[in-house]
Amino acid sequence: MKFFIDTANLEEIETAKSWGVLAGVTTNPSLYAKTGGKLSGFEGHMQKICKACEGLAVSAESQAKTTEGMIEDGRRLSALAPNIVIKLPICEESLPATRTLAEEGVRVNMTLVFSAPQALLAARAGARYISPFIGRFDDIGDDGTGQLEQVIRCVKNYKYGWWDEEGGPEIIAASVRSVNHVTQAALLGADIATVPFATLRKCIRHPLTVEGRAKFDADWAKVAGGQA
Ligand code: E4P
Repeated sequence: MKFFIDTANLEEIETAKSWGVLAGVTTNPSLYAKTGGKLSGFEGHMQKICKACEGLAVSAESQAKTTEGMIEDGRRLSALAPNIVIKLPICEESLPATRTLAEEGVRVNMTLVFSAPQALLAARAGARYISPFIGRFDDIGDDGTGQLEQVIRCVKNYKYGWWDEEGGPEIIAASVRSVNHVTQAALLGADIATVPFATLRKCIRHPLTVEGRAKFDADWAKVAGGQA
């Protein structure tokens, strides 16, 4: 499973990149708002992320509400950097936009996916990535990982012709809120998990690893003492 980072914060992106395991970045309007950025600075900020992450897929969300607007956004945003991916929410307007963009070779990440039929339609329309949300299901007392499993099993039953040679459409486990969500995503065979910075760090730093290192350090100190 590949790891994307779910943030628009450049410092977090740089740190995660330095760990050597990052395959992409996903942003959304809430994550951009958290950086304190303004609407006028959105495209410049996306360009900075794309430059910092050359070769990695960077998802930038369209604000458009119409098919034409989404196509226009897709064309304009994809001209910002070669590694940009256009994020569109699954809806009646975004399906034809996705098809047009896919025909032009523009990669779409279909977001806000909450059911297998939505994911199947996204795949058929030509989405390069499909993002079923886990955490928001859990928020309403539903079973987020169960829903993710249905999406993966349904989508992987078929070939679509759009991005098959690239191994697409790839399923991104999104709205990841815990280390356990990451484990569940991998157990279910998600292609990618997009993980917030703090959760990604928790995936590295298990408390028993921290404790184990402290014990080894103490024992090294004893050995060093004995040597003298
Ligand atoms: C990523 O593509 C999604 O926008 C993100 O994972 C949503 O996470 P949230 O449900 O925590 O807002």
